[in-house]
Amino acid sequence: MTQFNLPNNSKLINGNYFKDKSGSKNIKKVNIYRWDPDKNENPRIDTFEVDLKTCGNKVLDILNKIKNEIDPTLTYRRSCAHGVCGSCAMNVDGVNTLSCMKSHKDISGDINIYPLPHLKVIKDLVADLNTLYKQYESIKPWLKTKDNKKKTEINQTKEDRKKLDGLYECIMCACCSTSCPSYWWNGDKYLGPAVLLQAYRWIVDSRDDERKERLKEVADKLKLYRCHTIMNCTNSCPKGLNPAKAIASIKKMLATN
Ligand code: SF4
Ligand code: SF4
Ligand code: FES
Repeated sequence: MTQFNLPNNSKLINGNYFKDKSGSKNIKKVNIYRWDPDKNENPRIDTFEVDLKTCGNKVLDILNKIKNEIDPTLTYRRSCAHGVCGSCAMNVDGVNTLSCMKSHKDISGDINIYPLPHLKVIKDLVADLNTLYKQYESIKPWLKTKDNKKKTEINQTKEDRKKLDGLYECIMCACCSTSCPSYWWNGDKYLGPAVLLQAYRWIVDSRDDERKERLKEVADKLKLYRCHTIMNCTNSCPKGLNPAKAIASIKKMLATN
């Protein structure tokens, strides 16, 4: 029988409340999704009172403060803290973003933090990106030249190099793919905006010799044409990129080649 409700063990429950002990007047309440695979418990929302007077400006600074000073079991990914590695992507205040780039000063009221949506949760704010990485591998994100003996540098004109602007900056954070309704429902088949933007990045690289093969590879009603130009992807990219436009460009190339 079709089930429309969440199973009981998936329902979010109220978790622990961590009261500020500093007595600071500059307190922010931060509600964070928690789930531990080693405990047979429902996911819960823990609330932390955080003293902003002794905290950096970014949401990642809040998470680091909580982990260092309040609850060392809080689990999340981060590395560069400068918007370069893409590992700190999560849902902050209802929007997928990089927590190291998001200022908590822009958020009025409580801050709500969840893992990236519609992915399996590994623990707390760490979502399972294995399928997305396999899809990324499937588009062969490296330069392919027919002549394998070509060992010298391959030059590009300035115009050809410019075609990669707006594409090479993608850090594969997955904010776009996990905000795309088509990817939510068909994430195992539809490649999604992050991977399709990457596919386009290699399709338009003038140094690559396999443009036709690459186009043929993505020309599939599930891999590509599940994009219905809903635009959530472009609206959520923390690097200001436009995956919807890249997808439209692939479709145009297929229609006109
Ligand atoms: S434009 Fe396409 S890829 Fe972007 S959110 Fe919409 S359906 Fe998804
Ligand atoms: S296009 Fe933007 S949101 Fe999507 S993976 Fe790349 S950097 Fe992240
Ligand atoms: S920690 Fe690297 S992008 Fe945020």
